[in-house]
Amino acid sequence: MTDWRAHPLCGPRDAYPDAFWGPEKLDSAAFVELVDLLSPDVEIAALLVALKDIKQVVDVGGGTGLLTQAIMGGAEVTVIEPDPQQRAKIPGGIIVADGRAEAVPLPDRSTEAAIATWVLQYCDDPMRAVDELARIARHRIVIIQAAPGNDLVEIYNREAAIAGKPSAHHGWLLAEAATRLEAAGFQVTLERIAIPVRKPAGGAAQLARTLARMHFSGHADIDAMIAATEPLIGRTLAVADTLSDDGVLLSARR
Ligand SMILES: C[S@@+](CC[C@H](N)C(=O)[O-])C[C@H]1O[C@@H](n2cnc3c(N)ncnc32)[C@H](O)[C@@H]1O
Repeated sequence: MTDWRAHPLCGPRDAYPDAFWGPEKLDSAAFVELVDLLSPDVEIAALLVALKDIKQVVDVGGGTGLLTQAIMGGAEVTVIEPDPQQRAKIPGGIIVADGRAEAVPLPDRSTEAAIATWVLQYCDDPMRAVDELARIARHRIVIIQAAPGNDLVEIYNREAAIAGKPSAHHGWLLAEAATRLEAAGFQVTLERIAIPVRKPAGGAAQLARTLARMHFSGHADIDAMIAATEPLIGRTLAVADTLSDDGVLLSARR
């Protein structure tokens, strides 16, 4: 078996948590705000390659259907999504059902492929969710989580320190998922995908507010989080004009 924790895209190796740090708490309106700022072209292209020749996909935690729309041209797509506000935004032509990644309401091996993109950090039990993907998908699974050096994870970690919570480590999620999927008979590969986040019209203050609500919706200290991250976001945007929300696409085939 592969030592996935040693893979550079699952790093940094010296900072692995002992346990899952989440679940993070998402305000669905904040996610819609972030989607407006994302440039997902590279992500969509990589997803289409990973799902080449697949005619049936279940998108678990499909959100607003941002990525779902890209794959529906060539495949029948079902979205399983627990948030009614997100489900209401999913365009026509896609089968939509209420459900959670930890207990997908579909039979064993009932789809050719299953995907879960930017979802595991919101699950109560992300490894149970990975096992569910392996249970329902006969041939292919795609998971996308944050890459090492992702600016939005750094911002999450500043917020988490104020909440007294541990830092996030998406490489840990990826390594644990890859290990489980390999044990279930899948061949696993990882690739880095570039996802820039544009500066919003309201600048760093707007982005700080959006991100805090992406991670700690309803938290009592959310204003303190925003006050702490706005200067960091402002400094990054002054130098680079975009933030990195780079991801790692995990492709599993059997
Ligand atoms: C950051 S959004 C990602 C949406 C979409 N997959 C994408 O990449 O654009 C996270 C999504 O996961 C959903 N979610 C949260 N907890 C979940 C769970 N336990 N099972 C499935 N989906 C969940 C949220 O409602 C939200 O739509």
